Amino acid sequence: MNYSVVIPAAGQGKRMQAGKNKQFIHLRNEPIIVHTLKAFVSDPWCDRIILVVNKEERKEMGELCSFLSDKKQIMIVNGGLERQQSVKCGIDAIDGEGIVLVHDGARPFINQEIIHLLVNDAAKSGAATVAVPVKDTVKRVKDYKVLETMKREELWSIQTPQAFDVELLKEAHEKAEAENKLGTDDASLIEWLGKTVSIVQGDYTNIKLTTPEDLLFAEAILTQKEKV
Ligand code: CTP
Ligand code: MG
Repeated sequence: MNYSVVIPAAGQGKRMQAGKNKQFIHLRNEPIIVHTLKAFVSDPWCDRIILVVNKEERKEMGELCSFLSDKKQIMIVNGGLERQQSVKCGIDAIDGEGIVLVHDGARPFINQEIIHLLVNDAAKSGAATVAVPVKDTVKRVKDYKVLETMKREELWSIQTPQAFDVELLKEAHEKAEAENKLGTDDASLIEWLGKTVSIVQGDYTNIKLTTPEDLLFAEAILTQKEKV
């Protein structure tokens, strides 16, 4: 089952405090974004990669991709101020029907088995996301006071990739933009249309590199992956 993937990489990486976009931080001699791209370049189901970048970083990103582009076409488009706007810039570059994945540039440890489970689910359901059950007890808090304790068995941490019927995702983005609503993931926009999003259970190593200590976990995950 073939698909296109939009990879938003046009953020600032502020929480990583690296003084540059975290996509360029090296893990085992390669930038994070190259690790992420490789997961899709090597997947025979992946037809097309759309990488969304900051306008000022376009040249540098293009150079990083050039050695991967021999194997698969990587289209580069400029992003926007918020993640949601960057994803919209990416999906606007897709014509035709089919399945589109959205996957954070900052999640380099995604594997092909989970991508395929997700794509198969979205082909049936129209909208699906990878997620894992939360491990911690989660409470709602306001002004450092607990409001309530959530039922843990109902809570999942939502990751990417998320997969959608292209037309459905475009409709969801257009409606959200028209209503000035901003979501932190694409599944939220589908929920706002009143549609159901399915969950595909992924794994705990598919972390998003967000804060400096995530780089320590990344090293450990790479060490483990090298053993298998
Ligand atoms: N992203 C994007 N365009 C934006 C903001 C984010 O393409 N305007 C991308 C990031 O590059 C990242 C993904 O969306 O791959 C998830 O966002 P996040 O982890 O929040 O990354 P940043 O926004 O770069 O980090 P921060 O919020 O700490 O500044
Ligand atoms: Mg961000």
